[in-house]
Amino acid sequence: MTKLHVNVDHVATLRQARGVNYPDPVPAASICEMAGACGITIHLREDRRHIVDRDLELMRKTVSTVLNLEMAATGEMVQIARDTRPDIVTLVPERREERTTEGGLAVARDMEGIGAAVASLREAGIRVSLFIDPDRDEITASRKVGADVVELHTGDYCNASGSDQADQLARIREAAKIASELGLTVAAGHGLHYHNVRPVADIPEIAELNIGHAIIARSVFVGLERAVIQMLEAMGER
Ligand code: PXP
Repeated sequence: MTKLHVNVDHVATLRQARGVNYPDPVPAASICEMAGACGITIHLREDRRHIVDRDLELMRKTVSTVLNLEMAATGEMVQIARDTRPDIVTLVPERREERTTEGGLAVARDMEGIGAAVASLREAGIRVSLFIDPDRDEITASRKVGADVVELHTGDYCNASGSDQADQLARIREAAKIASELGLTVAAGHGLHYHNVRPVADIPEIAELNIGHAIIARSVFVGLERAVIQMLEAMGER
């Protein structure tokens, strides 16, 4: 079984576009859970462009599945996580000018910095996932710094086509195997859509997928509950 974690950031994006208090990502998270999501993911960015601190605080109280907080490995964010205690933190690279997360975390290059953030979070009882490219060195480094989970970046697979896409899928498959053999829980995500999710969901070592934009975009037309159900169907989970 592959679990679906829905990223509700873009409900908040719509709210922030007008500077009003709707649509609210907090009830959106509840609807996703009722539709069959096994977890809710939110990214609290340094610039608070979509999810804001109040969303995290409320979702900590209302999310009854698993609350996964994506964040940069900064002192400010580590402190926020230690104070609010999400079930899991996913450390991601973050650049202010990017439209969305680009590329995985450079764990092998900054084992000391990432390792310190991982240790601080784990000490507070929070599981830690590292968002990395499907690359052996990054997986090995993630294991060394004490991560519980690696989330494999599926962006290159989603952007590719034809035989290149098959190569990217093989890369993810191989990485999932390596990570699982090292005892890491394996997640995947970024850019996944209704039409390309199934081959990734079918990789046996991948336990969960984090999917946001495609689901929230479809919800505009079919409603959030149906959009989540249709993604579960596309994954082969219904
Ligand atoms: N996983 C991570 C680490 C991400 O940063 C994001 C985007 O916030 C996602 C998954 C979800 O990506 P998408 O919105 O393209 O489904």
